[in-house]
Parts: sequence; C-alpha cells; structure tokens
Amino acid sequence: MATVQEKLITPIAGGASEGPRNKVTVVGVGQVGMACAISILLRELPDELALVDVVEDRLKGEMMDLQHGSLFFKTPKIIADKDYTVTAGSRIVIVTAGVRQQEGESRLNLVQRNVNIFKHIIPQIVKHSPNCILVVVSNPVDIMTYVTWKLSGLPKHRVIGSGCNLDSARFRYLMAEKLSVHPTSFHGWILGEHGDSSVPVWSGANVAGVNLQTLNPDIGTDQDKEGWKETHKMVVDSAYEVIKLKGYTNWAIGMSVADLTESLTKNLSRVHPVSTMVKGMYGINEDVYLSLPCVLNNSGVSSVINMTLNAEEVAKLKKSANTLWGIQKDLKDL
Ligand SMILES: NC(=O)c1ccc[n+]([C@@H]2O[C@H](COP(=O)([O-])OP(=O)(O)OC[C@H]3O[C@@H](n4cnc5c(N)ncnc54)[C@H](O)[C@@H]3O)[C@@H](O)[C@H]2O)c1
Repeated sequence: MATVQEKLITPIAGGASEGPRNKVTVVGVGQVGMACAISILLRELPDELALVDVVEDRLKGEMMDLQHGSLFFKTPKIIADKDYTVTAGSRIVIVTAGVRQQEGESRLNLVQRNVNIFKHIIPQIVKHSPNCILVVVSNPVDIMTYVTWKLSGLPKHRVIGSGCNLDSARFRYLMAEKLSVHPTSFHGWILGEHGDSSVPVWSGANVAGVNLQTLNPDIGTDQDKEGWKETHKMVVDSAYEVIKLKGYTNWAIGMSVADLTESLTKNLSRVHPVSTMVKGMYGINEDVYLSLPCVLNNSGVSSVINMTLNAEEVAKLKKSANTLWGIQKDLKDL
C-alpha cells in the first residue's frame, strides 16, 4: 500500500539535489554566533547553515528554534552537531567560539585561553571543508586570526578576521549622528588593531567627497577645538560600555559579519576594513594580522587597497603590529 508521500510525489531520475553550493557554518552558538546566524539567515545568503558548539543542549535548542522559523527565510537546511562532519563542504566558516571578555578585561588577556580552544577547532574545520574561507570573530580577533592561519595551513587570502569592520561601523554611526546624515553617507575608516589601539584615518574622512580635514585641518588631533577625537574614543569605549550594560555585545557584530559574508558568497568585490596578513605593507616586517581596506570576493581577500596614510597613522599601525607580535611570538604549539 503506497504511503501519502509516495502517492503525492513522483521522483524524477537524476533530479535529486546535488547538495549545498553556499553552505555557511557558524562555530560557537553563544551570543555572537547566534547574532551572526540570524543576520545571515535573514539576508538569505546560505542554502545550508551548520552550527557547532560543545554545549549540546544549547546547540540543539538553538538549531530547533531557528528551524521553527524556516517559513520566514530561504535556507532550506539548518543542521547542528558537536561533531564537525556536520560542517562538511562549507564555503564560509565563521568562528565565534571561545571565552569572551569579562567586564573590564582587555581583549589581549583572552589570548592563551582561546588559542587552546582553537587548537581543537581549526584542524577539524579544515579537514571537512578544505576549500572554505575562514572568518574569525573570537577575540582578540587579530591574534586569533593569525593563530587560525597558522593552525589551518590555508593560504592567507582565505583566513580573514572581522577586525575593524565593527569599529568602523561604530565610527560611521557616531560621526553620521553628529553630522545629521545616514551612516552610509559618512565615509571613514578605522584600521589597525580591533579595539583599544585602533587607528582612525581622519585624513580620509569625508561626506560626498568633501574631506573633513580640509574644513578643519586639526580634526582628530589634540589641538582640535571641536573635539572630534572624542568620537574615536567613544568607538573604543563602546564595547566596554555595552558589555557593562548588557553583559556582551552581539547585534552589531552579527550584522557586520553578515555583511562580510554577503561580499564573500556573492563575489561582490566590496571593500571592507578587515584583518589580513600585513607583512610587507607600511613597513611592517612581522607575520601579523591587522585591518586594512580589503577587497572581498569569492576567493576571500583578493587585494588590499593602498590607502594614503599620513606619517602618524603609519606609526600607529606599526606600533599595533609590534604589540601584537610581542604577544604572538610567545604563543606555543602553533
Ligand atoms: N571581533 C569582534 O568585533 C567581536 C565582537 C563581540 C564579541 N567578540 C568575541 O566573540 C567571542 C564570542 O563571544 P560571545 O559573546 O558569543 O561568547 P559566549 O560565551 O556567549 O559564546 C561562546 C560560545 O563558544 C562555545 N565554545 C567554547 N569552546 C568551544 C569549542 N571548543 N568548540 C565550539 N564551541 C565552543 C561556548 O560553548 C559558547 O556557546 C568572544 O571571543 C568575544 O570576545 C568579537
């Protein structure tokens, strides 16, 4: 006796799905991982989403909760497991796993704890998705991206850190508010190290091509009577402030990672301030990852824009590179 399914459906020979072409994996289903997952789903980027975590109950709960929303987005398959076979064939793998900053804790303090976690995660990802692009979000993100590059053995253009993408988004929001324009209409870049020593490129800040430094030559400096430098300080302080208020940051980083994922999956060649291997650029001689304006397409970082930086901005980049290398050189077993 034929079942309802057999009566309803006549299969066509050779018509079965060939499997996902735009599979995205998110490792770590904490606050940041789930904000990335929902932002990516709502932008309709993947045809399969895989989630991985070590806490099995929460992992299954998050998977089921997203699956129950399937009516409202266009990702036909959402799967989750603590075993990395579930990630097989991913195009993009977003790593958010790890311990997060405690109130008042610097990102650099997190390093060795997260390195130990990554030693387990990264080889598993590469084993099951040797052709993937890795996007690292876990902090301290520039160092963790370097660690990922070392542990993965992947070429540098396929290992990217979310870097100053969030810092720049915060900067553009805060500057745009002050100037009464939408954030997309204020163009400003924060480069270098994500967080405390990030470098605001005041020399290029503009609205509609009107360079703010030509209107106020002191903008962003200590001599500036208008105090624009305070806006960058607000960017640096804002993560600490949000963590103090709600315990973690998640929505803005989730949306910014979805934006990166869109450039990668749709081969857009948009320019984003993300963390890339900077050895050989701006006089930096060490293997460090820092944010520069990177062209992202379906190969990963296809190129870096040679932004015109003044001597002070270059000096700050080099200082960040030295700070990061000072920590990285002591990391073990990479
Ligand atoms: N780059 C940025 O701009 C940015 C912004 C915000 C947060 N972060 C960072 O993102 C990371 C995650 O933050 P969060 O708020 O989601 O933390 P969280 O504690 O809410 O989530 C972390 C998750 O990682 C999981 N995890 C731990 N070890 C694991 C392992 N070995 N394998 C798989 N999963 C594992 C935990 O079970 C947990 O679910 C932190 O390092 C945080 O500092 C980065």
